[in-house]
Amino acid sequence: MPIIILAIESSCDDTSASVIIDGQVCSNIIASQNIHQLYGGVVPELASRDHEKNIIPVVDLALKQANIKTEQLSAIAFTAGPGLIGSLLVGVTFAKGLALSHQIPLIEVNHLDAHIMAHLIDDPKPIFPFLCLLISGGHTQIVLVKEPLVFEKLGETSDDAAGEAFDKTAKLLGLEYPGGPLIDKYAKLGEVIYKFPIPSAPGFNFSFSGFKTSVLYFLQKETRLNPSFIEHNLNNICASIQHTIIEIVFQKSIAAIKQTGVKSIAIAGGVASNSGVRHKFTEYAKESGIDVFIPQFQYCTDNAAMIAITANYLYLKESFSDHSVVPFAKG
Ligand code: KG4
Ligand code: ZN
Repeated sequence: MPIIILAIESSCDDTSASVIIDGQVCSNIIASQNIHQLYGGVVPELASRDHEKNIIPVVDLALKQANIKTEQLSAIAFTAGPGLIGSLLVGVTFAKGLALSHQIPLIEVNHLDAHIMAHLIDDPKPIFPFLCLLISGGHTQIVLVKEPLVFEKLGETSDDAAGEAFDKTAKLLGLEYPGGPLIDKYAKLGEVIYKFPIPSAPGFNFSFSGFKTSVLYFLQKETRLNPSFIEHNLNNICASIQHTIIEIVFQKSIAAIKQTGVKSIAIAGGVASNSGVRHKFTEYAKESGIDVFIPQFQYCTDNAAMIAITANYLYLKESFSDHSVVPFAKG
C-alpha cells in the first residue's frame, strides 16, 4: 500500500496544501495573501481570516491535482507551530475535522523541522550528517542534521531573523512588505559601495539588530544632506544591505563547517530564495569542495510539501498525534 499524505501549512500568511505519495510530491498549492502589503507587515487577524477563506479551495485543489480522494489518505498532516496562533488554528482545526470525519490518522509537524526536511524532497539529497542554515522571516539557525528528524541546534539569532533584517531595512527604504524579494531585485542592478558593520555574536549565534540600526543612522545622515539620496542610490544601497546580511550568515556557516567537519551544507527558509545567497554559496561550493544544497524556490518559502515530506518520515516512525493536540506559537 502506498503512503499517501495530505499536508496543510498555515503558520503565517500562506495557505498551502500538498499531497505526497511514497515521498513523491504530487501537488503543492500555495495561496499567498497580498493584503499585508498595505500595512507593511503581516497583520495576524487578517491572516487568520484569509486562511479561513482559502483553506477549502486550496485543499480541494491539492487533492484534485494529485488525483486523490480523501478516503485514500494514509494520514493528514498539519503545521502545529511555531507561527501565528490564529493562523495555525485554522490549519489544525481543519486537519482535525477532516481526520475525524474520515477516521484518518493525524500527524503534527514542526514548521522549522519542515524547512530543514525540505531538502529530502528532491534529488540529489544531502548525505547525513549535514549542516542546515535555516534563514527565514521568523528564524535564523544553524542546525546539525544527524539523520532524518534528528537535529542538534548549534546556534540561532539573538534578535531579528535574517528575513526580518531584509524586511525591516527594506521598510526604511520605503519598500513594500515583504521587502526581501525587492532588495534582491534592486541589488542585482547595483554595486556594493556602502559598508555596514558585521555584528559580533558568540559561537554560532547571529545578531542583526546592530546592522539594522547602522542602516537607519546611515540613511538619516545621507537624507539630511540630500533628500533624494534613497531614490537616486536605491540599487547600490540594496546591493550593500544584501551583501552585509549574506556575509553575516555566510561567515558563521563557514565557521560551523570547519568546526563540525561536515562535507555538506543545506540552505533552507525563505531567504534561501535570495539570488545573492544562492550565488555566494554556489561559488563557495566550487572553490571548497563542500557540497551545497539549495531547494527549488517553491520549497524555500512556506509551503505544504515540506510539511508532507516531514510527515512521511514521521509516518514511518508511527509518530501520530491524537485529537487533543493544540498549536503553539513559539518553537
Ligand atoms: O520561510 P518563509 O517563507 O517564512 C517564514 O517561515 O518566516 O520566509 C519569509 C522571509 C521574508 O522575510 C521574506 O522577505 C524573505 O523570506 N525572502 C527573501 C527573498 N524571498 C523571500 N529575502 C531575500 N531575498 C529573497 N529573494
Ligand atoms: Zn517558514
